[in-house]
Amino acid sequence: MMITGNVVELLMWVSILCLICVSNGFDPVDHYLIDCGSPINTPVGDRVFVADNPDSNSLSTPQTISASTTQKPISSSNDSALYQTARILDGASRYTFPIRKPGRHWIRLHFFPFVYQNYNLSMAKFSVSAQNFTFIKEFKVENGPQVKEYSLNLTYSNLTLTFIPSSKSFAFINALEVLSLPDDLIPEGARTIGPEDSYQIVSKKALETVARVNMGNNNKPVSPQNDPLWRLWVSDDTFLIHNNLAKFVSNTKAVNFTRGGVAEYIAPSSVYGTATMLNSEADPSMNANLTWRFVVDPGFEYLVRFHFCDIVSGSANTLFFNVYINSMLVLANLDLSKLTSNILGAPYFMDVITRVNDSSKLNVSVGPSNVGNHWPNAILNGLEIMKISNAKSSLDALDSDLKKNSKMKVGVIVGLTIGMFTAVIVAIVLFLLCRRRTCAHVSHSKAEDNFNGTAIFSSSKRGYRYPFVAIQEATDNFSESLLIGVGGFGKVYKGILRDETKVAVKRGVSHLGFAEFRTEIEMLSLVRHRHLVSLIGYCDEQNEMIIIYEYMENGSLKNHLHGSNVPGLSWQQRLEICIGSARGLHYLHTSSAKAIIHRDVKPANILLDENLMAKVADFGLSRSGPEIDESHVSTAVKGSFGYLDPEYLIRQQLTEKSDVYSFGVVMLEVLCGRPVIDPSLPREKVNLVEWAMMLQKRGQLEEIVDPRLAGQIKPDSLRKFGEIAEKCLVERGVDRPSMGDVLWNLECALRLQGNGNSFNHNGEMLSQINHVNNLEISVSSAQFSMGSVGDLAGISMSKVFAQLVREDKR
Ligand SMILES: *[C@@H]1O[C@H](CO)[C@@H](O)[C@H](O)[C@H]1NC(C)=O
Ligand SMILES: *[C@@H]1O[C@H](CO)[C@@H](O)[C@H](O)[C@H]1NC(C)=O
Ligand SMILES: *[C@@H]1O[C@H](CO)[C@@H](O)[C@H](O)[C@H]1NC(C)=O
Ligand SMILES: *[C@@H]1O[C@H](CO)[C@@H](O)[C@H](O)[C@H]1NC(C)=O
Ligand SMILES: *[C@@H]1O[C@H](CO)[C@@H](O)[C@H](O)[C@H]1NC(C)=O
Ligand SMILES: *[C@@H]1O[C@H](CO)[C@@H](O)[C@H](O)[C@H]1NC(C)=O
Ligand SMILES: *[C@@H]1O[C@H](CO)[C@@H](O)[C@H](O)[C@H]1NC(C)=O
Ligand SMILES: *[C@@H]1O[C@H](CO)[C@@H](O)[C@H](O)[C@H]1NC(C)=O
Ligand SMILES: *[C@@H]1O[C@H](CO)[C@@H](O)[C@H](O)[C@H]1NC(C)=O
Repeated sequence: MMITGNVVELLMWVSILCLICVSNGFDPVDHYLIDCGSPINTPVGDRVFVADNPDSNSLSTPQTISASTTQKPISSSNDSALYQTARILDGASRYTFPIRKPGRHWIRLHFFPFVYQNYNLSMAKFSVSAQNFTFIKEFKVENGPQVKEYSLNLTYSNLTLTFIPSSKSFAFINALEVLSLPDDLIPEGARTIGPEDSYQIVSKKALETVARVNMGNNNKPVSPQNDPLWRLWVSDDTFLIHNNLAKFVSNTKAVNFTRGGVAEYIAPSSVYGTATMLNSEADPSMNANLTWRFVVDPGFEYLVRFHFCDIVSGSANTLFFNVYINSMLVLANLDLSKLTSNILGAPYFMDVITRVNDSSKLNVSVGPSNVGNHWPNAILNGLEIMKISNAKSSLDALDSDLKKNSKMKVGVIVGLTIGMFTAVIVAIVLFLLCRRRTCAHVSHSKAEDNFNGTAIFSSSKRGYRYPFVAIQEATDNFSESLLIGVGGFGKVYKGILRDETKVAVKRGVSHLGFAEFRTEIEMLSLVRHRHLVSLIGYCDEQNEMIIIYEYMENGSLKNHLHGSNVPGLSWQQRLEICIGSARGLHYLHTSSAKAIIHRDVKPANILLDENLMAKVADFGLSRSGPEIDESHVSTAVKGSFGYLDPEYLIRQQLTEKSDVYSFGVVMLEVLCGRPVIDPSLPREKVNLVEWAMMLQKRGQLEEIVDPRLAGQIKPDSLRKFGEIAEKCLVERGVDRPSMGDVLWNLECALRLQGNGNSFNHNGEMLSQINHVNNLEISVSSAQFSMGSVGDLAGISMSKVFAQLVREDKR
């Protein structure tokens, strides 16, 4: 409130500060290291912390705005370089750092309380915030040293770090680090573990590191000097419950950072090279979990990152285990070798988000799975836990959602304001309730619940509710000139939101398909992937059913294959489009415990962005596979003629393999550039699938290749492509490959085309592939995952292959 009048501004114009020589691979663009209160620059390991003293002749130029506050450099007798000095801040103060690279940054605060003349730093009590996030409130450092680490996604601007002493107290700080992070270090979001499976975006949240643990290191931490990003990894033994079940193993030589896989800055080999594993050597029937317990603040969500690396197995597919957080299953039957292309020793990490509601404990467990006859074992190499800022943009326990009533001592004015605010809310709620009753009388609709003026979906799910007027504005009041498509569900318009984002706005016809509307939003908010068209928001005001998607500049694949006024796609572009859409489908099939079946795979539902990157669209028909114990319920046939799985037509049993069939048809269409059914052709050629498969069996597939591709396709690439399509189109679903196999083989076809550039990350792979070229398509579904580990983070091994349960809604 009174900050501005009383501010010490310490501006760090340190852009010439690149005297820091970084030898370990990552060189942060923004890299500010400040040794607070120090008159001289202080070298620590391979880095130099710069003095923030205005009197010294350093590059930093602290500015005192108000004379009424003091900022005193003080010194201790500690020999550890950063703890010899501190800066005392008697009034609200801030440090400002110009940011040159947008993205996630770490902010590390070093505290080491000591006694200096009249100041006992252990008595200091203060709050720290950055931008609009509260890091700590009413904070006391009773014993040190303490390093607090936060991360923020910053834009081009100044990072402002504000220290506010509590009344009659003061603040202090010993050292500061601000550094930009590699873009892929912290994910934009992750799968949530809890009663409901969903996906949550964290890119706008602040994170605080609450634990960073190296398993199996036997009481020895990995020091910041030995980490490419200067992190401290503490040893796990203090967190481990029942040490007698555990065994520490170390085999750093086994760690194999392959190109295209996990980067070394994710965690160094000293972390991946040690592990804590189940001590089951003497007991082949051992069945116990290894559990680590962490104390956390309840009422917050946590991003948990598991680091795995199989440094113990002699061969692939021998180590299977389950992973839990607070007794909730995260992954069943995890087989690391599958996730790392059978490269034993390739690191793998996995992020999940979980909420801690009522206990202050977060338990992480791994335990043997009971599939197969494998020796019981379970392993964990490293773990990071990051607290996620809450709706109040705070990370402090005082602001926890659970502490709503703890702040009883509010002033009269605040009380009054809140009182009035509450009255207004009550009035609004009453008004809405009345209105809803009226509505219900009029429409007595089964969808009553959905139109009552509250958001359909809980805010934890992605899917923002847009006001109708915003959409009217974006689409120029649904101007026909912005119409880009018309479908069974309604019309699709191009729109431009206030922030200039281009969007596609699908407006449903109001009297039908509410269930479909809802399904689609639910599906889109659960699944997010770069090869799936993503949801931007929706609107259900005034009985509208509007879904807002990201805008795809280049329209549909159908348009590119058959449209007259578009340039033809090259073979390589076509392969990349197939690969992209296969990735999207593979993700749908595997990202959650229940496979999601698209049901309407066709070129019209594969959209292309400005770079011709393919994204799968139209989840209106998608359904999750049923629970294992649900009985067979047949379903009305949905989908598009020509692409429908014949097995599904006959038996009405839907599996992911129906999508694989449809994908096979799409592949043929991509190859031939003609519609699936073309009645203008001679009878034997009308049906593309029959005709192409006949030629494929005779080895004459090149006869029907799109004339626009003449001479472009290398014979090996065509042969591979034909083989995959043929496999996808076999009669029995069980004989068809999985989408993962299809993807792997398509990548192979692309390599055989000699594209070289996109996939040169693993030179050896090529020769290996040439070698297995003529064998069955039987590569395990996750082997392509190097370089796209994130895509697979949510994979569940307990997929359900069964048919679909659904009552018809259209
Ligand atoms: C300096 O601080 C370190 C904490 O890292 C502590 O272990 C050490 O005992 C301290 N030394 C003195 C002289 O206080
Ligand atoms: C400094 O404050 C701490 C915590 O209040 C107290 O335990 C300690 O005795 C104080 N030290 C001195 C020298 O007053
Ligand atoms: C913080 O919030 C204030 C008002 O609430 C706003 O004016 C300011 O732009 C925000 N700053 C940042 C960095 O978001
Ligand atoms: C950052 O702070 C400096 C100094 O106060 C100011 O000149 C500059 O405009 C600020 N930049 C931004 C993007 O706010
Ligand atoms: C925590 O509580 C919230 C709200 O009561 C609930 O939605 C959520 O599912 C709970 N999470 C867990 C992990 O129990
Ligand atoms: C940071 O935010 C920007 C948009 O503000 C977003 O595009 C980017 O993906 C975010 N980065 C991370 C790592 O979350
Ligand atoms: C965590 O583990 C401890 C010890 O096994 C147990 O007492 C506690 O209930 C567990 N907490 C949760 C949330 O599962
Ligand atoms: C391991 O933990 C999970 C979740 O708490 C539990 O379901 C399972 O029974 C445990 N396994 C053993 C062997 O205790
Ligand atoms: C890492 O794995 C690759 C692929 O299997 C292998 O070719 C390479 O030799 C391995 N490197 C080491 C150091 O083991």
